[in-house]
Amino acid sequence: MRELHFFVCFLLLISTKGSFAENQPYLSIQPVEPVQIKPVNKAVLLTCKPSGQKELFTDLKWTDPRGEIVKQDNSWPSTRQGQAVYTENLGSDGTLALIIRNLRESEAGEYTCSATYANSEKFVKKVRIETFVAITWEDAPVEQYPILHSDYKVKCKVHANPAPIVDWFKNGEALTTTDRYVIEANGLLIRKVAESDDGTFTCRAIVMETGEYQERLIKVEVHTPPSFDDMPTEAEVVEGDSGSITCRARGKPIPNYTWIKADTREELSNSLRFSTNPLTGVLTVNPAEKNDRGKYICKAKNAAGEVQRPVHLGVVVRPHIDELINISIAAGAQEAHLKCVVSGWPLPHVTFQRVGSNERFTNGAQDSDDRIVLEQEKLAPAVPGGEERAQGHLIISDLLRSDDGLYACIASNKGGEALKNGHITVEFPPSFAATPLKEAWSWDNHPVNISCLAESIPNATITWRLNEREIDRDGNIQQIGNGPESTLQIIPIDRRYYGVYKCRAKNIHGEAEHEILLREAHPPSEILQAKREVITATTITFSFIGPKDDGGLPTRAYAVQYREDRRNWNEALNKTWPVDSPYILEGLEPQKSYSLRFAARNDVGFGNWAADDHVTMPKRSSPEEPKIITSQVLDGVSMSPYLDRFELRWRIPPDNGEPIERYEIKYCEVRNSTDGWVSEGGCRDLELPANGPPTFHMTKLRPNTHYKVELRARNIIGYSTPGQVIFKTARDPTKTGPEPIVEAREPALSSGALIGVIVAGLFVVFVIVDISCFIFNKTGLTHLITSQCGSKQRMDEEMNRNAEKEPLKGPVVLINDDSLKKDTEVEYDAKVDGARIMVVPPRHSAV
Ligand SMILES: *[C@@H]1O[C@H](CO)[C@@H](O)[C@H](O)[C@H]1NC(C)=O
Ligand SMILES: *[C@@H]1O[C@H](CO)[C@@H](O)[C@H](O)[C@H]1NC(C)=O
Ligand SMILES: *[C@@H]1O[C@H](CO)[C@@H](O)[C@H](O)[C@H]1NC(C)=O
Ligand SMILES: *[C@@H]1O[C@H](CO)[C@@H](O)[C@H](O)[C@H]1NC(C)=O
Ligand SMILES: *[C@@H]1O[C@H](CO)[C@@H](O)[C@H](O)[C@H]1NC(C)=O
Repeated sequence: MRELHFFVCFLLLISTKGSFAENQPYLSIQPVEPVQIKPVNKAVLLTCKPSGQKELFTDLKWTDPRGEIVKQDNSWPSTRQGQAVYTENLGSDGTLALIIRNLRESEAGEYTCSATYANSEKFVKKVRIETFVAITWEDAPVEQYPILHSDYKVKCKVHANPAPIVDWFKNGEALTTTDRYVIEANGLLIRKVAESDDGTFTCRAIVMETGEYQERLIKVEVHTPPSFDDMPTEAEVVEGDSGSITCRARGKPIPNYTWIKADTREELSNSLRFSTNPLTGVLTVNPAEKNDRGKYICKAKNAAGEVQRPVHLGVVVRPHIDELINISIAAGAQEAHLKCVVSGWPLPHVTFQRVGSNERFTNGAQDSDDRIVLEQEKLAPAVPGGEERAQGHLIISDLLRSDDGLYACIASNKGGEALKNGHITVEFPPSFAATPLKEAWSWDNHPVNISCLAESIPNATITWRLNEREIDRDGNIQQIGNGPESTLQIIPIDRRYYGVYKCRAKNIHGEAEHEILLREAHPPSEILQAKREVITATTITFSFIGPKDDGGLPTRAYAVQYREDRRNWNEALNKTWPVDSPYILEGLEPQKSYSLRFAARNDVGFGNWAADDHVTMPKRSSPEEPKIITSQVLDGVSMSPYLDRFELRWRIPPDNGEPIERYEIKYCEVRNSTDGWVSEGGCRDLELPANGPPTFHMTKLRPNTHYKVELRARNIIGYSTPGQVIFKTARDPTKTGPEPIVEAREPALSSGALIGVIVAGLFVVFVIVDISCFIFNKTGLTHLITSQCGSKQRMDEEMNRNAEKEPLKGPVVLINDDSLKKDTEVEYDAKVDGARIMVVPPRHSAV
């Protein structure tokens, strides 16, 4: 208001100046234009000023378009209230201002300033006020959201007076009315809104009369109502576990989800076990309960709309075995019927499996055993609306004892498996199949236990009878247990206690009897034969046949009683051998004659002496062959675990009547060839005294080398045949190259040809030797070869052969030529008779 006041003063100043220019009386209106276009809602000020002799003007006033005189208001501007149009005296020169404080369209029209001059002349001055309305956006939101596929008018309601021209642009291009776009009075109608209609529209308003121009940018974002994707209509969760259902809908803007349980209409956003994620649409239940089964509704909602979709939630209930009752049934005619009641959802499948077997029974009769039938049954709920249950039937007909056992009932559905063992007890009458004892033995008040075990279900009770009589209280018979096992501890103090003990077992299905004969044991009968197996000058090795009757108990030992011929049996010596030990009688004297007799012993005692024998010991001779004890034998070769050592061990041989004085050991490096083991030289000889232990450590040997050892025992009469062994020292692990052994060399001839040549050569030599021997000696040619025509080469061969075989047994050394099979028999006879044919090989002959 204050500004307005100053403005009025200013105008006044100007008008005052102008009035000096002329002295003619007139009225002037400022501004001077006869038609003035003013915007509404703004203040308008017009001044009317008399000029000339001002004091002659009277009755200066403004009249509004309706002809009414505008009232004057000279109060202080800031205090003016209510008066929309009024006049005011400005300054002292008589100027009257017309003030429209807030121009309205209804206030447009012709305003007249009039005055009377010198009381007679009337002065009138008119001015026309026309209003105009500026462009105003009455209903043109800057963001608008049409819905897809609908018709939508993009609102742009513009008001202006004079009326504006409205036109439209989208993304800079002018829009005209087409099929899809219709420019209407208050907006742009879009038919069937498409997603492509997203964008910025420009609504432009122009008023040519006033030169006004305005643009409004309208952001159009097409909204789509939610729609469900391929969403499963069913979901499952396992009871006790957590589970979730996902609702997924498309729409713009992104929809918000809510879940509702269909039957209760309860919203599941944040209940105790349920939670909903409004942004992802996931409904989570944790833990799921059986009663959560049912229909759930997913709601997806956005600004453009709302959709709903029901989802059925199934709650898988893990199988549970509610009932499995053990049964006990007699074998035979009846059938066993094992029932198993199970619950769970979906309804479980029931089967059985014999515990210990891997096979589950299948529905119907089993392929492997058609006595066994599996059936399924669906049980109606116990109460209306209650839970359905399933029952499996395992039916075994023609029940056998072998059907007894544990049977697992297995219920399975997609939630898992439940298992419970049930027992089918197959009852049967007592049987003594497990009591093999038929005989028992005792002697001389010897306590004895007899027991019987009755198999049966239920357990049988056992009673005993002796020789068909009840056993009364008897201090010598004590019964321990009366079923299913029972033992009698008997002390048979006289003959009455021997005889038939009858064990009687009884249960509800029947009874059975089992007889055990208690017999009196006695010593074994006589030995049928004592065979001399090996005889040396001082020892005899026996084997026994018999006794024919063991007296009821196993034979424990054999005994020999022997005497020199010149002594009588009272002075005889005894030797006893436990059964299965070497039956060797030692310490006999060479060339002496002995009488011998034999007996067998069991727990009762010795049988009678029998199988009398008479033997004359061979004369003293060189010792027997010392048998070399070998270990780790591979292809006849004893493998030494050491690179450079070998431990030679042997058994001390029988000395054949003269003490062994010493041992002689000879060993050489050898190599395997088609002819057997051939000496490579490097031989060593040494002697050992006989009184040391029968071992010798060979040292300073070469690694990975074969050695052949000969061991002779010597007494005053001569040398034994040699005990022999081939051994090989260990390979040196630090040397990785091929073995530096002659064998590894490539032969000049192929091995086949080489063997051929050697065989042919040997044959020729053999024939020549043979013929020459035949010429010089008419008795058997082979005998000649062995005894007289032996050459160094042949001795080598013999030694090789001996090395590959078990060393000879017995006291006699034979030249073991294959062509002399007969001598094998000679050897045997020689042992028995004590006559011996011996060849003592000359020293160093073998190698
Ligand atoms: C059935 O027998 C099994 C195995 O012998 C046993 O573990 C189970 O307790 C029994 N059931 C009943 C109800 O007696
Ligand atoms: C008989 O049985 C009892 C008890 O088992 C035992 O102590 C005893 O040694 C047995 N007697 C014989 C001779 O086996
Ligand atoms: C039957 O006998 C066996 C073996 O002595 C025993 O373990 C079992 O408990 C008995 N059964 C009954 C029902 O007495
Ligand atoms: C040899 O055995 C008999 C019968 O067993 C015995 O009578 C005798 O005393 C025993 N003699 C020696 C010397 O042990
Ligand atoms: C020795 O050689 C023969 C044939 O040449 C062969 O059969 C045998 O296995 C060899 N023995 C060993 C221990 O190498």
